[in-house]
Amino acid sequence: MKKQLSPQNMDAFWMPFTANRDFKQNPRLIASAQGHHYISNDGRKIYDGFSGLWTSGIGHCHPKIVEAVRQQVGEMDLCMGFQLGHSHAFTLADKLTDMAPQGFEHAFFTNSGSESVDTALKIALAYHRARGDASRTRLIGRQRGYHGVNFGGISVGGIAPNRKMFSANLINGVDHLPHTHNLEQAAFSRGQPQWGGHLADELESLVALHDASTIAAVIVEPVAGSTGILPPPVSYLERLRELCTQHGILLIFDEVITAFGRVGASFAAERFDVKPDLITTAKGLTNGVIPMGAVLATDHIYQSFMQGPEQSIEFFHGYTYSGHPVATAAGLATLEVYEQEGSFQQARELEDLFADAIHQFDDHPMVIDVRNIGLMGAIELAPREGAPGARGLEAHKQCFWNENLVIRNAMDILQFSPFLNAKPDDIAQMFDSVRAVLDRID
Ligand SMILES: Cc1ncc(COP(=O)(O)O)c(C=O)c1O
Repeated sequence: MKKQLSPQNMDAFWMPFTANRDFKQNPRLIASAQGHHYISNDGRKIYDGFSGLWTSGIGHCHPKIVEAVRQQVGEMDLCMGFQLGHSHAFTLADKLTDMAPQGFEHAFFTNSGSESVDTALKIALAYHRARGDASRTRLIGRQRGYHGVNFGGISVGGIAPNRKMFSANLINGVDHLPHTHNLEQAAFSRGQPQWGGHLADELESLVALHDASTIAAVIVEPVAGSTGILPPPVSYLERLRELCTQHGILLIFDEVITAFGRVGASFAAERFDVKPDLITTAKGLTNGVIPMGAVLATDHIYQSFMQGPEQSIEFFHGYTYSGHPVATAAGLATLEVYEQEGSFQQARELEDLFADAIHQFDDHPMVIDVRNIGLMGAIELAPREGAPGARGLEAHKQCFWNENLVIRNAMDILQFSPFLNAKPDDIAQMFDSVRAVLDRID
């Protein structure tokens, strides 16, 4: 018999990135998902304004992906991934590198964004060492950056609550660029802020301090996502690329959110026309259906590993489930659907409408900033005095209970990540609901 869920027996599941005690008092439970909607446990049809967790750009339970997974799991559930291979993993790597900006010819598979980040950092460190440049060990992240939750990721990441518990154990030799958010200079920017490109020059200060010969890599999200959507200022990424090249530093774009259509192109590197040396992905690689990530590397980086005796392992790294057959089947089906349905172009065509809709909040008395790029957007609320985050969480809950809408809040920043194939009327309705909520809360 199915056990009835109640707050008393919900304690066993220690929920990730959730206020467990608050949630369990009045849990927001989802029973199923289809297309652009969830069905809640109490039977309501709820619009998903966040595309899963930035994951499900072409909608939930896409029939072609579901079918591919169904078939694969009955045909080959698992193949030992070290020393054996299966053709889907090779085919997916081919398709993925074809979709990537020119020059990315190799893919290393992982199971999540966090693993992709730590894998990319290790590739960067090992690359320099393989080339006899072993003094390049320093990693540079950015304040407010989010690179997952593993030790490498939180070390280069720049979000204090994710770091402070572990501050004595973060990896050595990490420094941070300043973040690019500035309410005085760039609030209510539409797309890339005009102000802030000069902040990339801060890399020069870090080079002056540490010397370029000690720096292995710079890692940034092309658009900072989880911290509350900070689009890159005009010319910022170009300047970072220029400085990294000048100083022999690898540039890593963490595209766990921005890849696969979120900014109206296959990758943000393509949209902004700035080519990094390594790209991390996850989420949209399988439309969120099966956990999977990948690190994309240029041929130059890959070849620098392919040295030494042929019988020896070139890179001592990998996960049991790297290139898992069911995940690769989901990935192949997803990339095919992106192509067949023109998903990235669909997203591109929705951008202006989304920007118009979200910037209707520019003059709302509770709002201190509105930001957008591609199909990523944020409305930043003024915090309640003495209770930062309370207003944002209340807005999220009211959307769920009273408006049948899922949005995400990071403290007082409401975040939006519509489907790549969202219907214009649904985007309009979503923001009508948000306005109703903001008009109601104090
Ligand atoms: C830029 C970025 N990197 C890494 C991650 C971590 O991904 P995961 O939660 O799959 O480990 C995320 C998750 O949102 C992300 O946005």
